[in-house]
Amino acid sequence: MCGIVGYIGKRQAYPVLIKGLHRLEYRGYDSAGVALINPAGNLNVYKSQGKVSDLEDTAQHQDLTGSIGIAHTRWATHGEPNFRNAHPHLSQFGRLAIVHNGIIENYAPLREKLWQNGRTFKSDTDTEVVVQLIEYLQEKQQLSFQQSVQQTLQMLQGSYAIAVLDKNQPDTIVAARKGSPLVVGVGDDELFLGSDASPIVEYTNRVIYLDDEDMVVLHRGTGANTSEVSIDLMTVSGDRKQPRIEQVSLDVSQLEKGGYDHFMLKEICEQPQSLRSCLQFARRTLAGEEAEGIFTLLESSQRVLITACGTSWHAGIVAKYALEQMVRVPVDVDYASEFRYRNPVITRGDTVIAISQSGETADTLAAIEMAKNQGAKVLSICNVIGSSIPRASDKVIYTMVGPEIGVASTKAFTAQVSVLTMLALLWGKRKGTLSAARCEDLLKEMDALPEKIQQVLNQQPAIRRMAETLSFASSCLYIGRSYNYPVALEGALKLKEISYIHAEGYPAAEMKHGPIALISQEMPVVTIATASDIYDKLVSNVQEIRARQGRVMAVVTEGDTEVVRMADCYVEVPRVSECLSPILNIVPLQLLSYYVACLKGCNVDQPRNLAKSVTVE
Ligand code: F6R
Repeated sequence: MCGIVGYIGKRQAYPVLIKGLHRLEYRGYDSAGVALINPAGNLNVYKSQGKVSDLEDTAQHQDLTGSIGIAHTRWATHGEPNFRNAHPHLSQFGRLAIVHNGIIENYAPLREKLWQNGRTFKSDTDTEVVVQLIEYLQEKQQLSFQQSVQQTLQMLQGSYAIAVLDKNQPDTIVAARKGSPLVVGVGDDELFLGSDASPIVEYTNRVIYLDDEDMVVLHRGTGANTSEVSIDLMTVSGDRKQPRIEQVSLDVSQLEKGGYDHFMLKEICEQPQSLRSCLQFARRTLAGEEAEGIFTLLESSQRVLITACGTSWHAGIVAKYALEQMVRVPVDVDYASEFRYRNPVITRGDTVIAISQSGETADTLAAIEMAKNQGAKVLSICNVIGSSIPRASDKVIYTMVGPEIGVASTKAFTAQVSVLTMLALLWGKRKGTLSAARCEDLLKEMDALPEKIQQVLNQQPAIRRMAETLSFASSCLYIGRSYNYPVALEGALKLKEISYIHAEGYPAAEMKHGPIALISQEMPVVTIATASDIYDKLVSNVQEIRARQGRVMAVVTEGDTEVVRMADCYVEVPRVSECLSPILNIVPLQLLSYYVACLKGCNVDQPRNLAKSVTVE
């Protein structure tokens, strides 16, 4: 979703801003723009529909000088994705430029009032209302740049991360956040802004994560003091705060494709390493100082409520199976967007587990805020360190798989399932619902998973062949049972989001309650049929599909004979205990959708209409 970059310092801002926008491309966007104040004090704005490279083409013969600027990638909410609606937006008299992420809910009445006071609008966006209001207050109430931004923010309802330039103050950027992320990078004589740390880490690893309703004024000294920069941090209501500088350990190479054609393929293929790092970190967290706090929180709960969106929600369903089986604790799993609005019953004895790769998903964040207000405790499972969801949680376990840049989530899923499974094992052992010996066996088996994932990755040629068949389908079903029902959901989601082939995941036994009516030669059925307690039941489900001329593509355990006999094509995965099988079984399905999308010529890393970090509801 939308991305913000800002720079103030001694270097030319434009190259920093453009590189930063490229770093944020993974979030998904449909237009881009940049605003610079040049040495003569002119405010220049360039923008373009389409990609950051289109913006570069548009800007190439223009005045790109200036060592202060802001830039933006826009994912359309209010108004079409076109040039007019692209950010930055200028105020009526061209004094101010703004970039904004989020949604201003009361923009319509504000716009109406401004219009009655003579302001006209060039775009359909809520953002333009904000910049017009700031300029209006500057003029009508003779407020300073900072005061007018502050007063405007107090009038807004909704969510925002903003950065604003005033050409009359060419050494200042004012920025603020509420509900949308914003990070300040602190260099030697320069300051940066980013929606996350990725546009910043090239220059500095010192960052300040802004809290909700923080406002920050980034200054550069003038005259003899141009090498000095300073940061004033305050709340939107004006209380001063001490900035807390944190270190980020993000490596620039993690933000690059490293020889792969796509980030998605890189992220699928690095799962042996990413899972190893995840397992080591989770093991340390759940055995170290933090562990007692986490287990005390869990053990004080009568039930667990899991909330998440998309792929993370699928990880939540796997976790339900594991927690109920190993800990014998009741678990509900809810889409965060439903949970937050359906008035769920939450009591003091509940623990909410929030799962999120980005840690910024607006619905998940709002769901945990609501649950906390009703007395629940929150444990989050997140990947991005310092992001909003862990900061709003009582406890966090990080998945530690490094940045996930492909829009389709892959290595985050295997890590989320692994952390949650490990949590279930250790909690079950503490509670006595799982024997110590069984727990140790399963933990040992987990340690061997990275190697087994590598064995699955080695079968890419066979999976590519399977993809050739699937790429001709216009619709397809994924079926699995028990722990592999959520894998069917996740496999189907992977296919539809990057190849645009319609796909649905079902528990295999549900077929005869409706979906079996769809079975024909034109409807492939991807079947997850690995070893399990109810393997025989699944074999019957496959027979029912075959009896209706359905085409079966199967994921089976090495050495399988029964499903293999019925399948049109299959891929084998190494044998593991059923509760760990989702971590392995999803890998061929990730590759399958990747190769189908490539064969269809789709934009794998940035599928249409999708954003990586969904910071609006
Ligand atoms: C699918 C995908 C999305 C995310 C969802 C939640 O491949 O990536 O469905 O899983 O938007 O995002 P996080 O995990 O960042 O909260």
